[in-house]
Amino acid sequence: MEYYITDTHCHITCDMLYDQIEDIISRAKENHIKRMLVVCTNFQEYSRVEKLKEKEPKLFDIALGFHPNDLYKFNERDYKDLESLVQDDKLVAIGEIGLDYHWDDVTREDQIVGFRRQIELAKKYKKPILIHMREATQDTVDILKEYIPLKGIIHCYSGSYEIAQELMKMGFYISYGGPLTFKNSRGAPEVAKKLPINRLFVETDSPYLTPHPYRGKQNEPMYANVTFKKLCEIKEIDEIRMAKQLEENYIELFQK
Ligand code: NI
Repeated sequence: MEYYITDTHCHITCDMLYDQIEDIISRAKENHIKRMLVVCTNFQEYSRVEKLKEKEPKLFDIALGFHPNDLYKFNERDYKDLESLVQDDKLVAIGEIGLDYHWDDVTREDQIVGFRRQIELAKKYKKPILIHMREATQDTVDILKEYIPLKGIIHCYSGSYEIAQELMKMGFYISYGGPLTFKNSRGAPEVAKKLPINRLFVETDSPYLTPHPYRGKQNEPMYANVTFKKLCEIKEIDEIRMAKQLEENYIELFQK
């Protein structure tokens, strides 16, 4: 029997991948990908995926949000434009949003302001949020806590079991990307093993973080299948059953 999965976080409309979009889409289809949640970090990426979705509505879902390290690029006008797009059914989530203290192009204070604004927008229009959290776990968790109940996905999760539990209690799902397959993945498989399958997703975060053994190559949605297989192995669950569960999770979160 065949199985089909969703790549719950990919940037296929970024400049790097959009050049080869037709090939990327066919390779995804040949590798068990039935749906891609395309995460847009600006309005150009958004209009690109809108066009793709017109042709193949079921293959693409769309998210849009201002990434913490990009916040200096956006002004009040952009927040207004974001708010009007959020009211469209086509946009299924706001993201990726969050905190990233690894880089300092945007101060922590400004990151927090932008993060809060977008959480509030999501609450206002009842949309899920896609969370980017890097070297900022405690601040992210503390801020999110103020807004519960929430719904969304913690993308490319690499944290502890305890933090995952806290986030799931708030209403989040945990998504694993390529690092789950890395030889030095620092405990990620042990954590994934303990998490309930009705709260999990897989993703690529393409063009970054290509799973083992393709590490170093350009990442693209077809490789979600590699991380998916790794997850099946860790959980000792067959592919058909796991794919069915992840699809149920997706339907539950996005009310499809
Ligand atoms: Ni991303």
